[in-house]
Amino acid sequence: MQEKIWGEVVKIKNSLSKPRKLALCGFMGAGKTSVFNRLRHEKYDHNYFFADSDALILKSMGYPSIKEIVGKLGWSKFRELEQQIISDLVRGESSLVLSLGGGSLNNSIMRMFSEEGVVLVWLKAGFEDLLLRASLNQGGRPLLKEKTRGELLELYQERRKYYSEADIIIDNKSLEEAVDIIKGYLE
Ligand code: S3P
Repeated sequence: MQEKIWGEVVKIKNSLSKPRKLALCGFMGAGKTSVFNRLRHEKYDHNYFFADSDALILKSMGYPSIKEIVGKLGWSKFRELEQQIISDLVRGESSLVLSLGGGSLNNSIMRMFSEEGVVLVWLKAGFEDLLLRASLNQGGRPLLKEKTRGELLELYQERRKYYSEADIIIDNKSLEEAVDIIKGYLE
């Protein structure tokens, strides 16, 4: 099913009832953290456990930034921690709003989301806009320093195969519009 909201198409899969578990995905700079924070501040945290995978990785390891974790432990350890934290949250919480790091999706996470009834929301935006917004916070995004523009574009294209499987795709909306759309799916 496709629904028209404010004149632009937002993809929403058929038969979506109010989910108990919702996860925000998208490339760096998509606005996941801003949307997540707005939802939390609008008091949805009475009904859902709110979790940000990056923040939990830092907390669990006692590091101040992703840059430091990756610098000390490397990307593969970071990805391992990320997978573990997401899987613990999704399997362990009964009501969850989860903000995902941009590189966290893979086949096994997607399978688990579908088993656990997680509704995945993709905050979609053009690559140029994403890069511009992502560069405003480089500390949490060491990839921006490590990779060339061309490599980042390649990464974005590879990841789109997962993002585009989302149940709700919010295409190029303002923060307010995105928050309003998602609120329609929360209790
Ligand atoms: C990453 C995105 C970051 C963070 C880490 C790796 C990625 O999160 O998890 O720097 O691989 O795209 P955001 O998507 O919240 O920036």
